Amino acid sequence: ALIVVHLYGLAADLDKISSLCKKYGVALIEDAAESLGTLYRGKYTGTIGDYGIFSFNGNKIITTSGGGILISNRVDRIAKVRFWASQSRDPARHYQHSELGYNYRMSNVLAGIGRGQLKVLDRRIAKKKAIFEFYQEKLGHLEGLKMMPVNDWNEPNYWLSCCTLSSKVRPLAVMEALEAENIESRPIWKPMHLQPFFTKYDFVGDGIADQIFENGICLPSDTKMTEEDLDRVVRIMQRLWD
Ligand SMILES: Cc1ncc(COP(=O)(O)O)c(C=O)c1O
Repeated sequence: ALIVVHLYGLAADLDKISSLCKKYGVALIEDAAESLGTLYRGKYTGTIGDYGIFSFNGNKIITTSGGGILISNRVDRIAKVRFWASQSRDPARHYQHSELGYNYRMSNVLAGIGRGQLKVLDRRIAKKKAIFEFYQEKLGHLEGLKMMPVNDWNEPNYWLSCCTLSSKVRPLAVMEALEAENIESRPIWKPMHLQPFFTKYDFVGDGIADQIFENGICLPSDTKMTEEDLDRVVRIMQRLWD
């Protein structure tokens, strides 16, 4: 199988990837953990490949505090996963296991929270988009600063507002300036092939992920941020370019 990851609420260019998967008979799994509500050419990410996963971890656009879901149109495969996720219990009166199982069920309490959270998803997306557009407007002109690209196939959920910096102002300087004012920001995800655990393995790549990791930064993007909070972030950043 091939796992495509829709990062930061942006959709990957799925047409190209899924046509390759079809050509070679490879199952396509969409990791839509960060992109619930994102549209790729009018279709929700996570619903386009053979399987989709979503995360409801505490940092996501909606949350059940922890947990997630797997979706697929392949009813037989979902039934099998449900079997594994609920301890692989054979249909017997006593506990009997012919296969190794896992206890991956979401509790009904957390599922209830998730159903409530789904009702605020549209509002959250609208706020995340407003945050991104605010940064775009106030910071987009700074030398070397480029907000994450919203390609024409994309209607993102804007989970996090990210940018790259190619001028003399480095991401670390921005993170430290914000931190000095008690504001958290983060680097872009470290690519898998740079993780110490994986350095012994081969990888295929052209260095783009490395560059984005080196030059990227995730700006504060919480939906609870007020206009005043956003203004503070922008002012602290603008000072670094003065
Ligand atoms: C792209 C991506 N995939 C998978 C996960 C894992 O999800 P979970 O924390 O629900 O296991 C996360 C984040 O947590 C993520 O951002």
